[in-house]
Amino acid sequence: MSTPSADEKKVKLWDFPVRLFHWALVIAIVTAWWTNRQVMIDIHAIAGYSVLALVIFRIIWGFVGSSNARFADFLTGPKRVINYVLKIPNGTMSELTYAGHNPAGGWMVLVMILLVGVQAVSGLFASEDTFLFFDGPLVAYVSSDVASIMNWIHHTNINLIYAAVGLHVFAALFYLVVKRENLIRAIVIGTRRVPVELAGRFANIRFASPVLGIVLLIICALVVWGGVTLARG
Ligand code: HEM
Ligand code: HEM
Repeated sequence: MSTPSADEKKVKLWDFPVRLFHWALVIAIVTAWWTNRQVMIDIHAIAGYSVLALVIFRIIWGFVGSSNARFADFLTGPKRVINYVLKIPNGTMSELTYAGHNPAGGWMVLVMILLVGVQAVSGLFASEDTFLFFDGPLVAYVSSDVASIMNWIHHTNINLIYAAVGLHVFAALFYLVVKRENLIRAIVIGTRRVPVELAGRFANIRFASPVLGIVLLIICALVVWGGVTLARG
C-alpha cells in the first residue's frame, strides 16, 4: 500500500504512547541481549528495568488507553482467531483489515508482553557468580532454591522470546511482501493508507490523551527505579 491513490484514505491507527512503547521495548530488549553477550551487566540490568517499566505501562494502557490499545478490543474468542487464520491465505482486504490488532496478532501481542515481562522479573532474581559477581536486586530476599529457579527461567525463557520475536517479525514482513500491507509504517508513524470504503472502521477509534500515556510511563519508570533502589538498600 505504499503508492497513494485516489481511492485510498490516510487514517490514524496507533497512538503515540503505543508507538513509543513498541520502539523503546525493541531498543531495550536488543540492548539487554547485546550487553549480556558483551558482559556489560550494569547496562544489562538498566535495559531490563526499562523493559519492566514499559511492560507495566503497557498493561495499564491496555485498560485505560486508546480503544484499539485495550486488551478488551484485541483479545477475542478462539472461533474468531481460527476464522481469521483460515482467511489469511485468500481473504479479501475487507476481511483482513482491522482498526487495531487482528484476532491472531492480538493474542501474539499478549504472549510477547508476558514473555518479556517474565524475562525482566526473573532477571531481578538472577545472579552470575563465576566472574561477574552480579546479583539481581531481589536475590537477597529469596531462598537459594527460588533464586536458582528464577535463574533457570531467565536462561530458558529467552529462547521463547527469540521464537516469538522471530515469528512476529516474520509476520510483519509477510504482510508487507505477500499481502502488500505496510503495518510496519503504521507502528512507526501512526497512520495507515486504506481503501476509502474501509476508512469508516478507523473513524470509530477513541484516542486517549498522549500526555496521559507519557505521564503514566514516567510514573512506571519512577516506581521501578524507586523499587530497585530501595531493594538494593
Ligand atoms: C524485540 C523485538 C520486538 C518486540 C518484543 C515486539 C513486540 C511488539 C508488541 C508487544 C506489539 C504490540 C504493540 C502494542 O499494542 O502495544 C508489537 C506490534 C507490532 N510490531 Fe513489534 N516487536 C519487536 C520488533 C518488531 C520489528 C523489528 C518490527 C518490524 C519489522 C515490528 C513490527 C510490529 C508491527 C507492524 C506491529 C503492529 C502489529 C499490528 O498491526 O497488529 N516489531 N510488537
Ligand atoms: C527483558 C529484559 C532482559 C533480557 C532480554 C535479558 C536477557 C538475558 C540473556 C539472554 C541472558 C543470558 C542467558 C544465557 O546465557 O543463557 C541473561 C543473563 C543474565 N541476566 Fe538478563 N535479561 C533481562 C533482564 C534482566 C534484569 C532486569 C536483570 C537484573 C537486574 C538481569 C540479570 C541477568 C544476570 C545476572 C544474568 C547472568 C546469569 C548467568 O549468566 O548466570 N537480566 N539475560
